[in-house]
Amino acid sequence: MDKIFRDALKGLEACYHGGSIDKVRLDFSTSLNPLGPPPSVAETVRSLSISDLSLYPESDSRSVCYSIANSQKLAPDEVLLGNGASELLFMIPLIAIEKGDIALIPSPTYGEYSRAVLMMGGNISYYPLLREDDFRLQIDSFTETIDEIMPKLVFLCNPNNPTGEYLDRSAVLDILEACRKRDTILVIDEAYVDLSPKKWYSDDLIKNGNLIIVRSLTKSFSCAGIRIGYLVADKKIISALKAVKIPWNVTILGQKVALALIDELEYLKKGVELVEREKAYLLHALGKLPVYAIQSDANFILVDLKGRSAASINEKLLERGIYLRDCASFHLPDFVRIGIRKHEDNVELVEALTEILGG
Ligand SMILES: Cc1ncc(COP(=O)(O)O)c(C=O)c1O
Repeated sequence: MDKIFRDALKGLEACYHGGSIDKVRLDFSTSLNPLGPPPSVAETVRSLSISDLSLYPESDSRSVCYSIANSQKLAPDEVLLGNGASELLFMIPLIAIEKGDIALIPSPTYGEYSRAVLMMGGNISYYPLLREDDFRLQIDSFTETIDEIMPKLVFLCNPNNPTGEYLDRSAVLDILEACRKRDTILVIDEAYVDLSPKKWYSDDLIKNGNLIIVRSLTKSFSCAGIRIGYLVADKKIISALKAVKIPWNVTILGQKVALALIDELEYLKKGVELVEREKAYLLHALGKLPVYAIQSDANFILVDLKGRSAASINEKLLERGIYLRDCASFHLPDFVRIGIRKHEDNVELVEALTEILGG
């Protein structure tokens, strides 16, 4: 039976994700805008009639691409819409990876990049982010690695899931330049960027030609169930991606909600303010517990449990209906990631952790 499957699929397993455990009252394992979805999402859903749903959506989500391009000072043929950022991340190796090609990926980071490359028969070279550096990327040594191994693709998650580091423009420019010299495509996953207070405008960098920036509305507007992501890149890359794209990949609902969310900048600002206030509260409270919280530029915090297993802490938290992201799948079994929520939820988490760990 195994003979019917492609060799590249041997040993490939589904990646674990947070957000789907039953009986969780307070789920800190997903990292979404703590304000929840803005009212425009509910209004859009209500405005759709059954006859709207009986039509095919625009196959290439043209109207949404125009609107995103307009708001980001891009051309419409530099934008591609996806059924969540996930779909787009899986499309990239389809246009770039041949059997044996190398993708360079810092580790720990989001696990789906490697799966997307491996299923195309590519190989992964992991660049280790070290605990003693608080998992910060060492730019000089990273660019040297690009120079040495000449990867076909480099993936950067910015801000990085789960460590929370957000690279500034000059660091990204250095990496982009190293990639340009080696004809490498740099993929930057900005799924969490909208909720970072340090967000900088990166879209102009696609003019370099070898850059793909992937974004998601999932985290920014807490609408994980609707599935909307987009990427921006040079139009040659977009047209290669369109050649492998599944038709009608984004539903009418996804397209309409995307159109409603593009101008919600005020809502994002409020989300960032709340995240920053609550991050300060959580970092202060965690500082009193026998754990170590890594400084974060994102809407989540990675916490070193100093030798205690995340699974055992989660078991005790689950008795109280609380759940954290166990980081075992990031090869960090004694770390958890806390998605920042509203104040009353964060207070409840701190109280529970204080009881479990002792102050
Ligand atoms: C870094 C990163 N990129 C992409 C995604 C997937 O985003 P989407 O929900 O838009 O598919 C996730 C989801 O957890 C993520 O953590």
